Amino acid sequence: MPIQKKYNYLLFGNPVHHSKSPIIYKYFSHNTGLMFDYNIKQVENNMFSNVVLEFFKTYGQGANVTVPFKEEAYKLSHIVTRRAQMTHSVNVLKKLKNNIILGDNTDGIGCLYDLNRLNFIHMNQKILLIGAGGAARGIIPNLLSLNCSIDIVNRTFSRALHVASYFKKFGFIKAIRIDDLKVLNYHVVINATSAGIHQECSFFLDNTIFYPERTVFYDLFYDDKLTPFLQWYQDHGGIYYADGIGMLVSQAAYSFYLWNGIFPNVQSVINLLNKNKKYFCE
Ligand code: ATR
Repeated sequence: MPIQKKYNYLLFGNPVHHSKSPIIYKYFSHNTGLMFDYNIKQVENNMFSNVVLEFFKTYGQGANVTVPFKEEAYKLSHIVTRRAQMTHSVNVLKKLKNNIILGDNTDGIGCLYDLNRLNFIHMNQKILLIGAGGAARGIIPNLLSLNCSIDIVNRTFSRALHVASYFKKFGFIKAIRIDDLKVLNYHVVINATSAGIHQECSFFLDNTIFYPERTVFYDLFYDDKLTPFLQWYQDHGGIYYADGIGMLVSQAAYSFYLWNGIFPNVQSVINLLNKNKKYFCE
């Protein structure tokens, strides 16, 4: 019997102990029949490049990268895909021939895949994007690729301005001030801030008029219970919402595809992860 080659993948980040990626890839292994090891590695902030290069020099074939190393991963990649180039951020690495390291970004395509799966997004829609950090930047090109127009609002306005001016070459995007957010006249409102991690809600929306039946809410973050952002929406009568668990599985599926050329069944993995949730939003 031929010996099956065992692949080794790692997730690098700080912190990473909370990550659901190992369980997601375990499900991928089950549903594709591919055998591999997938582990997590917490890296000290000044050690990222050394540790990653050592991993690829020895037994590593691929890696995922999470906060706070996505920009550093972009810099250490020898070549990058166009979507990584557009966001200057890399969440997946692959070793090619001659020890060349390829950097890709599957966050944006993962988000779009999930929004499509949920039937939450269509061409030419109006989107409000809350947040102007790495998570927001990662998804903007994909949203613009649908010819959607994006208003971006952020606690620090100058950061929203900066992001809008960088991405305006790819489509319709403008920064707006919190005080100018009077009516939520959007098809989709996306939370890309890290406020919910600290159980804070985005205060941006408190003084706005909005029509929950016309607007979908999507949080890039996820939790076993409703995130504060989605809780706010639900408290105001909203019923069309989802957290970022589907995006997490989808970006992992695209990473898996980059490594192995096989796209796993995303929906079945989301169903398994949502099985024990205290709420259902799909
Ligand atoms: P990430 O890579 O996860 O996006 P980041 O680059 O640090 O992390 O960005 C975090 C985002 O969450 C920013 O938009 C930040 O707003 P500022 O640019 O004003 O810092 C936003 N954010 C974090 N905590 C927040 C809070 N309590 N309320 C509102 N926005 C918050």
